[in-house]
Amino acid sequence: MKAGAHPGYHATYQAWREDPEGFWLAAAADLEWIEPPRTAFDPAAGIYGRWFPDGICNTTANCLDRHVAAGHGARKALIYDSPLAGARRELSYRDLLREVEIAGHMLRRLGVAKGDRVILYMPMVPEAVIGMLACARIGAVHSVVFGGFAAHELATRIDDARPKVILAASCGIEPGRIVPYKPLLDRAIDEARHKPESCLILAREQAPATLAAGRDHDWAALRQEVIAGGAGPLPPEPMHATDPLYILYTSGTTGRPKGVVRDTGGHMVALHWTMGALYGVEAGDVYWAASDVGWVVGHSYIVYGPLLKGCTTILYEGKPVGTPDPGAFWRVIAEHDVRVLFTAPTAFRAIRKEDPDGAHLKRYDLTRFKALFLAGERADPDTVKWAEAMLKVPVIDHWWQTETGWAIAGNPLGLGLLPVKHGSPTVPMPGHDVQILDETGRPVAPGTMGSIAIRLPLPPGCLPTLWQADERFQDSYLAEFPGYYSTSDAGYRDADGYLFIMGRTDDIINVAGHRLSTGGMEEVLAGHPAVAECAVIGARDSLKGEVPLGFVVLKAGVNIAPDTIAQECVARVRDQIGPVAAFKTALVVGRLPKTRSGKILRGTMKKIADGEPWTMPATIDDPAILDEIGDVLKQAHRPG
Ligand code: COA
Ligand code: AMP
Repeated sequence: MKAGAHPGYHATYQAWREDPEGFWLAAAADLEWIEPPRTAFDPAAGIYGRWFPDGICNTTANCLDRHVAAGHGARKALIYDSPLAGARRELSYRDLLREVEIAGHMLRRLGVAKGDRVILYMPMVPEAVIGMLACARIGAVHSVVFGGFAAHELATRIDDARPKVILAASCGIEPGRIVPYKPLLDRAIDEARHKPESCLILAREQAPATLAAGRDHDWAALRQEVIAGGAGPLPPEPMHATDPLYILYTSGTTGRPKGVVRDTGGHMVALHWTMGALYGVEAGDVYWAASDVGWVVGHSYIVYGPLLKGCTTILYEGKPVGTPDPGAFWRVIAEHDVRVLFTAPTAFRAIRKEDPDGAHLKRYDLTRFKALFLAGERADPDTVKWAEAMLKVPVIDHWWQTETGWAIAGNPLGLGLLPVKHGSPTVPMPGHDVQILDETGRPVAPGTMGSIAIRLPLPPGCLPTLWQADERFQDSYLAEFPGYYSTSDAGYRDADGYLFIMGRTDDIINVAGHRLSTGGMEEVLAGHPAVAECAVIGARDSLKGEVPLGFVVLKAGVNIAPDTIAQECVARVRDQIGPVAAFKTALVVGRLPKTRSGKILRGTMKKIADGEPWTMPATIDDPAILDEIGDVLKQAHRPG
């Protein structure tokens, strides 16, 4: 689909409004099915309906076999570029298909069958992608756990997904340190009630792994064994379009993560459609999502989207800065001929901080680079304008969530860009009927803030439910506004129909584009034996957008130095949630500000911490406490 050759955004959105069934069936027809769907949507199935209920397919047949069969076996499917490991590897579509078949045989050898769950706890190495696709090949449901999460978080996911097998690597690599994954995996399995039958461990040269006899297998050894046993082609398992492809856990409002379920058919149809219409790429283009396979962006746009489209995807194990310098992204774009880059705004804030004038840009030829897409957190206009000035290509903010799997709103490059308004991710994508609602569920006038909701049904690719938790799905997303999916984001729509996403309505915060629950952190702090009560807020941060800030009140009679307890609190969050929480500051305070009914005034505390104007809440119990909070923040060199 070439920009300009398409009817444009408005006509496309209208076409979807008038005939959603026809719209999605046409999108489905661009893919290969074992049984093509005759129905796009069945409102009677599932909780709010199900997509392509009579379709039979396999996602990997569309990600791999389809392209090989069309004569593109030699095209690069995946480029692994790791400044952290000092490694590079390229796999053609034919190579990747072969590796996925071999890994599929390996999983089968370990007893994995259709419907079984497989957890992956892996860094950004090709085997992570191969492992995910191997699961999809044989109909197993993968669940990737981000490497920055600690053992306890992994244990929670093991108990919820109940995997037969876990795929892991001996280590991840962070700048300046090796992160041994195997001890974390062992601790998680010890802690979990559910025990996997086997673990398959990829030994990286940076760290050895001790294998537990009878449970753990060496990846390379099993691979050799399977090849020696004559591993032949592995036909893709026929799947109902409604079968789960994967579970991806994301932060909820408590420490218990939500298992977002992705289905098979709707997911591939929606993602394939977005590659052309939203990102404006064609088969053969190089597409790079600088994220991690542990996040939804990694699932959708490192693995599935680009491969469904027949693009070359980049698997980059590095950072925007420090690996080795703030020119790292420009190097990857120039060396691999990247047409479209997708990352979080925080990456650009990091680059700008180290190279405000773009000196590193001048070292690379970026003439073929076409567009930058940003998501994962609010794209602040300052950063967007800086990126536009430096790159001289469209910089496109788009808004979505782990739950939706693809953009709710964006500016569709493939349909012809609409005028950009800084601070807005532009307009709803076809499939999404977005409404701004007041507390009673009534749509508000343009320009008025409200809760952002999507009228049901959600489009293909969005979650049909939470893993074995239909009731939690209903309570979390559908109960607030009957007939709608509640996004838990607040914002407004302007007179031109542009959306502005202003922040969450719950206790989720976004730290360097990573979604975290302050409620989950409070649970960890409350577990400290000296802590009587606590509050965690997301304080504004010029690099990461937000960082968590903890306030703890000690139990009466505790005579340990407050600094010691604060350090223990920081260590506790790192140990139980993981380094990715970026929880670096706990402040010991005498009391927490509350309303007369006992509700902690987190919103006001955040305003004080951000140095924003605030008003005394009428319902406050004791106004003096807010001054105390301000004083403690000043002592800690926060704005206060
Ligand atoms: N395994 C183990 N630890 C990890 C990890 C992983 N996969 N990923 C991050 N961490 C650690 C980091 O090393 C850091 O540890 P530290 O406290 O010892 O320094 C901690 O988790 C916090 O990580 P992060 O918030 O990412 O901070 P950072 O300083 O390492 O990097 C950025 C900041 C902006 C460079 C980085 O977050 C980034 O590149 N973000 C943009 C891309 C992105 O990840 N987007 C996600 C969704 S699109
Ligand atoms: P995640 O599930 O990690 O993708 O996080 C989803 C949340 O990140 C959303 O609910 C928003 O709060 C926030 N978010 C993602 N993209 C954007 C964006 N483009 N603008 C504003 N907020 C965003």
